[in-house]
Amino acid sequence: MGLRDEIREQPAAARRLIDEGREPIARIAAALREPPFDTIVIAARGTSDHAAVYAQYVFGVRHRVIVGLAAPSIGSVYGVEPRFAHSVVIGISQSGESPDVVGVIAAARGQGVPTIAITNSAGSPLARAAEHSIDLRAGPERAVAATKTYTAELLAVALLSASLSGDDAGLAAIDRLPDAIAAALETEADTERLASTRAGMAGCVVLGRGFEYATAREWALKLKELARLLADPYSAADFQHGPLALLEPGFPVFALAPSGASAPDLIALLGRLRDQFGVDLVVVSDRDDALALGAGLRLPPSIPDWLMPVVSIVPAQLFAYHLARARGQDPDSPRHIRKVTLTR
Ligand code: F6R
Repeated sequence: MGLRDEIREQPAAARRLIDEGREPIARIAAALREPPFDTIVIAARGTSDHAAVYAQYVFGVRHRVIVGLAAPSIGSVYGVEPRFAHSVVIGISQSGESPDVVGVIAAARGQGVPTIAITNSAGSPLARAAEHSIDLRAGPERAVAATKTYTAELLAVALLSASLSGDDAGLAAIDRLPDAIAAALETEADTERLASTRAGMAGCVVLGRGFEYATAREWALKLKELARLLADPYSAADFQHGPLALLEPGFPVFALAPSGASAPDLIALLGRLRDQFGVDLVVVSDRDDALALGAGLRLPPSIPDWLMPVVSIVPAQLFAYHLARARGQDPDSPRHIRKVTLTR
């Protein structure tokens, strides 16, 4: 079992979490309703932190709840325990091991606020530290780079959101995601072709907005760790506040531009980047107008924008995998890093 197998396992892993995790997650959502919370704090690192960024938009847009991303060093380096007050505190970690993330959850639990672990390791220190635990059921993830546990983390967040608001239409849309992930895997030949013609690039930026900002960050991380490509992720709004100066003809710009509230502005921006600066655009989208702007990777249609990140990361994972190979690197053995990183 290598990285590519784990990428391809994602429809089955998603199906398992939806079928077996929906009820336990609904029980956690029911426990959270009383007493009411007014903010959510999430502690996570690396890929799991990108699931936290996704949660920031999901709970912000769908529940009007402010989600703060914890800075674990406030406790672990400075020895200061934040006041969690009326928050729910969530730790996201596939391994459930990193002491700084566990420390945030332990401190919050000590203050008596609701705590939730979202982890692929049900017996891990994180799961033991939290009051509630969501088991991702993704099966062992052996590749160093996280892929199937990332989509499982996003799904857990989506299921929690739909359960909190009793959103049956949302749950029905979640139920269709395994098929959508399988459809996204069909882009593999295109990702291989686009990656092989870009093997020599020196760097790129990755743009997304709103729900897809998490995908931009996760795609950039995969490009760095697998293909050793300097890849800088931006919200499409932030990108216009300075980094735009990087652009010149042929500069690689990768973009997530699926249907949804963020699409019109983002597509207009990408059109400008192409016409004014002559950038080399790779666009991941379900929209013909977005795909026509550059080299396109087509997403399946009719997926609500808040759920699309579970699907849109799949072509990005495959692209990073094939780019690594095209650059002569082994995506199953990224240098310098291990599966579990313990930070304090
Ligand atoms: C990236 C990757 C790392 C981990 C990070 C957190 O592919 O694997 O960035 O996501 O070390 O690991 P967990 O989720 O185990 O806390």
